Amino acid sequence: MKRNLIITGGAGFIGSHVVRLFVNKYPEYRILNLDKLTYAGNLANLKDVEDRPNYTFVKGDICDYESVRDLVRENRIDGIIHLAAESHVDRSIKDPFTFARTNVLGTLSLLQAAKDFWQPLGYRVDGVPCRFYHISTDEVYGALELTRPEGEAPYGDDFFTEETKYNPHSPYSAAKASSDHFVRAFHDTYGMPTIVTNCSNNYGPYQFPEKLIPLFVNNIRNRKPLPVYGKGENVRDWLYVEDHARAIDLIFHEGKVAETYNIGGFNEWKNIDIVRTLIRVTDRLLGRAEGEDDDLITFVTDRAGHDLRYAIDSTKLSRELGWKPSLQFEEGIEKTVRWYLENQEWLDQVTSGDYQKYYEQMYRNR
Ligand code: NAD
Ligand code: TYD
Repeated sequence: MKRNLIITGGAGFIGSHVVRLFVNKYPEYRILNLDKLTYAGNLANLKDVEDRPNYTFVKGDICDYESVRDLVRENRIDGIIHLAAESHVDRSIKDPFTFARTNVLGTLSLLQAAKDFWQPLGYRVDGVPCRFYHISTDEVYGALELTRPEGEAPYGDDFFTEETKYNPHSPYSAAKASSDHFVRAFHDTYGMPTIVTNCSNNYGPYQFPEKLIPLFVNNIRNRKPLPVYGKGENVRDWLYVEDHARAIDLIFHEGKVAETYNIGGFNEWKNIDIVRTLIRVTDRLLGRAEGEDDDLITFVTDRAGHDLRYAIDSTKLSRELGWKPSLQFEEGIEKTVRWYLENQEWLDQVTSGDYQKYYEQMYRNR
């Protein structure tokens, strides 16, 4: 079947993996990557697919309702996979307005643009049933307790399920929660064929190096301090980014309209244990003695409102659609650390800001 899709935020971390997967797997689709290229957007993430005939990059802001409406209509878009967002909790603490604008108003603008074109057509474009697929986070559910702080994971007795009540704590998660509500409201009010997924922390290649894993690998390599918030006891549930992209593909094509699916790897780690693993693996891959860089660990003031534990129950997704993660964490971490060490040029460009100048220039010249 031919389809015309918009993937928003395709130049970001997860979005670039989703674009790559769709461009490679569906040569018969036309894929438009709509991205504003904020500090987090980097077209170097998509170098390997940028010349494919089924791929087009469109520089634009999801908040610009009129441009998005025209883009949807002119390209007879039948599916939207929405990843564009401000995504870093620490930035949201400093600048909550930007998060409300992009994550809430941006999502609303996309929904409205899609509705304008789709509703009069009965939510079918040229015979293809429309889909608005919104990518969200487990952080909307709030925080879980550490009822088993010692020993092995899981570190608590409960998990986030699709029925867990929303209870966001950070400006980031509050904005994502609000956007989730708008998506569901468009289904309930206008019959928009929506799907929402809430995923746990992702890791893997092309993540902006202000997030824990790429930041720390880069710092270990350069022998810079590793700022661990609080005592490093917070627990996150980690999923390899390509497994998330596979889940998005499956759910976009086979998920049920109006449903929510949680995506996670049943893979809880305390931050301090992740940090020690990163040091061990990075040291080994750099030919240093394993653990040689342990003294880079620096405990710093905790993040305000720092959620203690996230843990996703993804049973519904595996039971109904047969998805499961493909990688064990040890394997995924090794692959990830190796990628950052082998792609130093990418890291250097991103940390210096050069990637933005280069691509601005390239697109001006086209
Ligand atoms: P990211 O910050 O790496 O990328 C975000 C992308 O969105 C960038 O390319 C940026 O340029 C683009 N963007 C930002 N504002 C825009 C705007 N106004 N208009 C158009 N494009 C804009 O984010 P990520 O980590 O890849 O996360 C992608 C999505 O997945 C987000 O919605 C996030 O909430 C969700 N999510 C992320 C994780 C995670 O661990 N990273 C986990 C669960 C869910
Ligand atoms: P992060 O990658 O920012 O993801 P999120 O806040 O969305 O879970 O952080 C992952 C965990 O690592 C989180 O508990 C905060 C912690 N952290 C640090 O301890 N130091 C750091 O420098 C960063 C960026 C994160």
